[in-house]
Amino acid sequence: MADTNAKLTVNSEEYELPIIKGTLGRPVIDIAALQDSGFWSYDPGFKVTAPVESKITYIDGGKGELLHRGYPIDQLANNAEYLEVAYALIHGDLPNAEQKADFFEKIRKHTGVHDQLRKFFEGFRRDAHPMAIMVGVVGALSAFYHDNLDVSNEAHREITAIRLIAKMPTLAAMSYKYSQGEPFMYPRNDFSYAENFLYMMFATPADVDYEPNDVVTRAMDKIFTLHADHEQNASTSTVRLAGSTGANPYACIAAGIAALWGPSHGGANEAVLEMLDEIGTVENVPAFMEKVKSREVKLMGFGHRVYKNFDPRAQVMKETCDEVLGALGINDPKLELAMALEKIALEDPFFVERNLYPNVDFYSGIILKAIGIPTSMFTVIFSLARTSGWISHWLEMHSAPFKIGRPRQLYTGETHRDFVKVEDRK
Ligand code: SDX
Repeated sequence: MADTNAKLTVNSEEYELPIIKGTLGRPVIDIAALQDSGFWSYDPGFKVTAPVESKITYIDGGKGELLHRGYPIDQLANNAEYLEVAYALIHGDLPNAEQKADFFEKIRKHTGVHDQLRKFFEGFRRDAHPMAIMVGVVGALSAFYHDNLDVSNEAHREITAIRLIAKMPTLAAMSYKYSQGEPFMYPRNDFSYAENFLYMMFATPADVDYEPNDVVTRAMDKIFTLHADHEQNASTSTVRLAGSTGANPYACIAAGIAALWGPSHGGANEAVLEMLDEIGTVENVPAFMEKVKSREVKLMGFGHRVYKNFDPRAQVMKETCDEVLGALGINDPKLELAMALEKIALEDPFFVERNLYPNVDFYSGIILKAIGIPTSMFTVIFSLARTSGWISHWLEMHSAPFKIGRPRQLYTGETHRDFVKVEDRK
């Protein structure tokens, strides 16, 4: 409840706006009373707006702190399996042994997809971007789970979360196989979540004995955890807004995938590798940095709306990058190039003054490339991992009464004018 009030005086009217404190982070000013003020609040890009209350993830951008249900991201990434983190995002706590076994079994039972879904893939060109395919096929799931899905029914919501988390790796791997002209691989329920994904990506009917490398599997699972959730980012806010209309949850997740695809958001990991390819060698870095400073290009993988210090995920990602490249004996010149960029950015006033530090996307691409995943699949993997976050926010919204999201605007268009016949128009 409100602790104290903020006072706003406008047009000689005074408004008492309740200040509400959370358990961590900034308090909020409840501006609902402005409804009768004749004014809207104005905040393009939602830089200072909290449209929801949530218990799932807390970020302290100044301290570089990220908590999922109170657990620090580095502790989760280095100790938990991704599915344990997904359970915590959904249910509020890490699972005990019995809950873990039950949840993992439920996920295993739902990794398959309706065989009719294959036909959706066949409609795409082989060179279609896999994110375009994912928007399509995840949205198509709403056609397979619609008639008997009542979003007001908690059990229906629960099985929807299980199905989405379970099927995303299968659909992601299918979008890759389709682009390669290789047959789809069925999930193997004797594999862990990350192993199963790597198996469906890289095994073939002629090589069904494929077993992913343990270091690579652990790194993949850690990458899933590092991308699982991140408070009210653009794609999560998209899922919440779509969900606020009561829309089919599979369609809401497809909307989240579409939002994530943008290069300012989840598409940045792909853009980082393209940027490193464009720079080519360490010798070209100074000239490239001049292009960044003249605002010709952005330094992809740097900067963040919330983190004005380091992104804690980037630190874990960098450690994982060193582990994977070391274990695989890969000496990737792109890593050397990335480190040269990071060094300059951390010292150059242009970046320091703008709080531009590496974010989660800066190193992830180098690891994924080392694992053998093509650049075009990077954001697909981000969407796979973020599904647990998106659906936990959708569940949280549905767990209490909510209103449809309907923002207003500052209108600066034409004032009232009458219709003019075409023959009388200039
Ligand atoms: C993700 O929200 C989330 O939580 C997202 C995410 C998640 O897990 O969901 O963390 C995942 O999306 C990470 C971000 C990935 N995107 C990129 O790496 C793309 C490059 N970064 C930028 O596009 C940018 O930093 C944003 C979009 C991430 C943040 O932009 P903001 O907060 O709106 O900041 P801004 O654009 O107002 O920039 C402030 C200043 C500007 O300079 P001035 O015009 O004031 O002189 O910093 C500059 C910007 O030009 N700037 C950059 C820059 N990012 C910001 N300049 C060069 N390179 C950059 N990357």
